[in-house]
Amino acid sequence: MQSTDIRTRFLNFFKERAHAVVPSSSLIPSDPSVLLTTAGMQQFKPYFTGEADAIRDFGSRSAASVQKSFRTSDIDEVGDERHLTFFEMLGNFSFGGYFKREAITFAYEFITREMGLPISYVTIFKGREDIGVPRDTESEQIWNSLGVTDVREEGIADVFWGPTGSAGPCGPTTEIYCQNAAGQDIEVWNVVFNQFFYAGTREELLAGATGKKLEPLATPGVDTGMGLERLAMVAQKTRTIFETDLFASTIALLPSTMPERDKRIIADH
Ligand code: ALA
Repeated sequence: MQSTDIRTRFLNFFKERAHAVVPSSSLIPSDPSVLLTTAGMQQFKPYFTGEADAIRDFGSRSAASVQKSFRTSDIDEVGDERHLTFFEMLGNFSFGGYFKREAITFAYEFITREMGLPISYVTIFKGREDIGVPRDTESEQIWNSLGVTDVREEGIADVFWGPTGSAGPCGPTTEIYCQNAAGQDIEVWNVVFNQFFYAGTREELLAGATGKKLEPLATPGVDTGMGLERLAMVAQKTRTIFETDLFASTIALLPSTMPERDKRIIADH
């Protein structure tokens, strides 16, 4: 399946499930707490916090987008099989509408039925009492009810999203892993349950900064992000993202004598 078809399928899947299709926002964000857009949720931050009204602006409490994203945090890893600085993030969002059961069921149906791909395993948050977040047993039970039994626990570094920038919504996540043609299990989709607001940075949260604690969000929401390039790698059965149709023609222009890693870095640029 070509990458253009993946984009269309994703947006149509969620449109059929009452999501408003919203265009990618600019890489230069309106959110002043970040220099560049790093995730699909950034343009939607005010809808998670209740400062903006999704019904008024989109006619729905749910939205879907394909967001241009840039992450300097991964810059040293570009050139391996799966990392980029610039990528496209397929995302579906709920602003006080559906929550865990629907979000996990949508993700399961999209990967297994719409894309016809097997799920290797999923992860859930193992909980951290000192910041007041329990183990995400509910997500585990939902996965089990869908027949996904390889559910692995991970900690705050991997399966707790946000906040981005100086403050914002955050919460536990569940991640979906699928296999590429090299037999590696690759994280393709991160499904975030925005349950909290934190008035500080992620670093302060992880360090347990005094005087700051997680506050429940008035309207919990869902924020998901799936890397188009990684999904294309799995769907097109390639060993790396650079062999997918998104990069193959660029790589083919480069001299055959050039080291593979250099070619990949240039293709990312
Ligand atoms: N905001 C989440 C992420 O970027 C979905 O992984």
